Amino acid sequence: MSVSQKMQRLYAQARRIFCSAQMLIITGSYWGDEGKGKIVDFLSHLYDLAVRYSGGAGAGHTLVTPEGKKFVGHLIPCGIAQGIRCVLARGVFFDLKRFIAEFEDARRVLGKKLPPIWVDKYSPLWTPWHELFERWLEHSAGGKKVGTTGKAIGPLAGLKVLRCGPQVHHLYQSKALRLRLQGLYRALKPDFDAMVKAGLIKRQDIPLPIAVEKALLRDAAIIKSMVTDTAHELSGAYTAGLRILFEAAQAPGLDIDLGTWPYVSSGHSVAGGAPLGSGLPLKAFAKAIVLMVMKALPTRVGEGPFPSEIWDRKKASWFAKMHPNLFKNTAERNAFLRDKLQRINDGRATMADWSQYFQVLGYELGATTGRGRSVGFMDLMWLHYVIRINGPQYFALTRFDMLSGIKKIPVVIGYLLDDKQLSPGMMPDTDSLSRIRPVYEFWEGWDQDITGITDWNKLPAAAKRYIWKLEKRLGVPILLIGTGPERDAIIIRPDVAKRSRHKSA
Ligand code: IMP
Repeated sequence: MSVSQKMQRLYAQARRIFCSAQMLIITGSYWGDEGKGKIVDFLSHLYDLAVRYSGGAGAGHTLVTPEGKKFVGHLIPCGIAQGIRCVLARGVFFDLKRFIAEFEDARRVLGKKLPPIWVDKYSPLWTPWHELFERWLEHSAGGKKVGTTGKAIGPLAGLKVLRCGPQVHHLYQSKALRLRLQGLYRALKPDFDAMVKAGLIKRQDIPLPIAVEKALLRDAAIIKSMVTDTAHELSGAYTAGLRILFEAAQAPGLDIDLGTWPYVSSGHSVAGGAPLGSGLPLKAFAKAIVLMVMKALPTRVGEGPFPSEIWDRKKASWFAKMHPNLFKNTAERNAFLRDKLQRINDGRATMADWSQYFQVLGYELGATTGRGRSVGFMDLMWLHYVIRINGPQYFALTRFDMLSGIKKIPVVIGYLLDDKQLSPGMMPDTDSLSRIRPVYEFWEGWDQDITGITDWNKLPAAAKRYIWKLEKRLGVPILLIGTGPERDAIIIRPDVAKRSRHKSA
């Protein structure tokens, strides 16, 4: 079957399931980097608009087209590759410079003719001071820093709440822009002075308001035709019956209110962020489908608790930095993976071996920062918590192929806090979560490499049993299964699809 025939078959199956609802919200499950980009890219041809509703340039959503073209969207929704209108809604922190660079990148990778883009006029606007201020906050936190992406997400969110700084529309009102920039500069100046005093920056590193204004105005004209009141436009689109796909940034574990605060990003990454970030009323979401994307092996970068983490975070990150060759397609990489898998299956593997195997196999390097990601095992306790918050109808399980060849697959099924078992769905505070001890089960694995399989019936019996067991424990069907990075490396479960058609009929 040719690539396009395969895609047509998959698309037809997807259409039958997703056409029952006008709105689709796609969120992550753990701490981000779960392959949302791939799932959004795969499904967006079924929608008229793709909307990013939270986060900022710190996110990194990767997609690979059937032609092998790779695009990483930091601000622009992944729907761009399928040619549908893309919306950066009000919940997005807007970084003009990075947006323009990303737009150029999209043109280069995906072709000159890109679909139209709307940028919300009332979104908070990035300045270089936000980024300086973030360095100060991280420095001042001492040993308790967040380990941010350095894209000023926290300051953009915080100063928005303090009603300080410019919004996108101020780019086109020169007097208002100047006043807003001066106000922001005055508010932050004492911190910049302290940074100079602490030797963190030099005085000449602090741009003056006039320079910031000039730089912003230089780029403002490029996006002028895209800037609009997206809440109003989306309301019109909704009323006209257009189909809308909402793409969360990051994942529930990094949600400002429901994640592992303070080791979180600063937006609403949960499904409930969609009405807030888009300005659409709750009734628009009454029949929305929520699809949660979860990676077969969760990862985390930055600081903060990660209950099913396999190895030490710093060591994992350091390991990736010290062995760049293993993250390229080299003979060294293949030999390394063979050796580690052997150890795992012989029962000789240390936690470092397990972690390194999955880090290398999954190319676990941050799409925005290039930092090495630390890997954990599938964690049912965490998933029970995020299911409670997001209420998904379906899961998309990505990177299922990474479990191929492992005889006994560890899965976290319980949390012990001070030797007491926590009940599913309950989440302790962040400090306690750092202290929990995971309880494991070992699930039966399979030998065959399942990379690239698109037919459920071609999966080995043990792989199917893994899926059935997982969804039974979680109480949410696993509709989509990713078996590789390409758009067409995906399985749509026929049994789940059949049940869902039944329900919506
Ligand atoms: P911030 O969003 O840059 O403020 O970073 C806050 C925390 O969220 C840090 O631990 C980051 O590593 C993490 N984070 C932010 N964006 C992403 C992402 O797209 N993937 C994974 N982690 C992220």
